[in-house]
Amino acid sequence: MRGDVPRGSPERIIIQYSESMMQKGTVAQHHKDDREDQKTSGSSVGHTTHVDDNESRPVTGRRAFLAWLGLGTVGVGGFLSVPLVRFALDPLTRAATETSWTDLGPTSDFMETGIPQKRTINITNIDGWRKVVSEKAVYVVKKADNSLAVLSSSCPHLGCSVKWNDDGKQFKCPCHNGAFAADGKLLSGPPPRNLDELETRVTDGRLQVKYQSFRPLVKSKEVLA
Ligand code: FES
Repeated sequence: MRGDVPRGSPERIIIQYSESMMQKGTVAQHHKDDREDQKTSGSSVGHTTHVDDNESRPVTGRRAFLAWLGLGTVGVGGFLSVPLVRFALDPLTRAATETSWTDLGPTSDFMETGIPQKRTINITNIDGWRKVVSEKAVYVVKKADNSLAVLSSSCPHLGCSVKWNDDGKQFKCPCHNGAFAADGKLLSGPPPRNLDELETRVTDGRLQVKYQSFRPLVKSKEVLA
């Protein structure tokens, strides 16, 4: 219809204006329909999407910051707690008995052959966080080759304390009559092995011993602590 009307004529201008108004009305109607559709369906398309983006950005930033803050706190806390945990567990991971050298006196005190000399020493036991000092008896004997040996008085049968019997010239265990020679060799009774010989050294002419406990009821000498 517009093609029949000459360009620039009043009729052509009126037709163009009418078409333009109709087009605007159609676009406005589309927008209105869209808004009504969104209200009905709850959808977040169109303008709503832009609003959500703007609102969600700071929320995401806050969450990330809090997450990093939490991780940092846990990391620093874990790092600082390592020495405390090691301090708390240290007594449980250490040996039950501290083995150190104990002085028994000058070697010249033990030169009498065949007669064991009894000495009492103090041993420190570590039980968890508790330190217990106990007395242990040992016997120093002079061997045939003139060297000195130190024997534990703990019977390798069930751990009773053996005593030197000067009349019988042997060690006797009062529990089940175990008997040992002066050098600790098993003579009779239920003990499964000889008396246990302890580690020794001589420093500045003095005899020193490292006390240890050994597993009872077994033939071999096995260190317990
Ligand atoms: S504990 Fe010594 S003989 Fe049994």
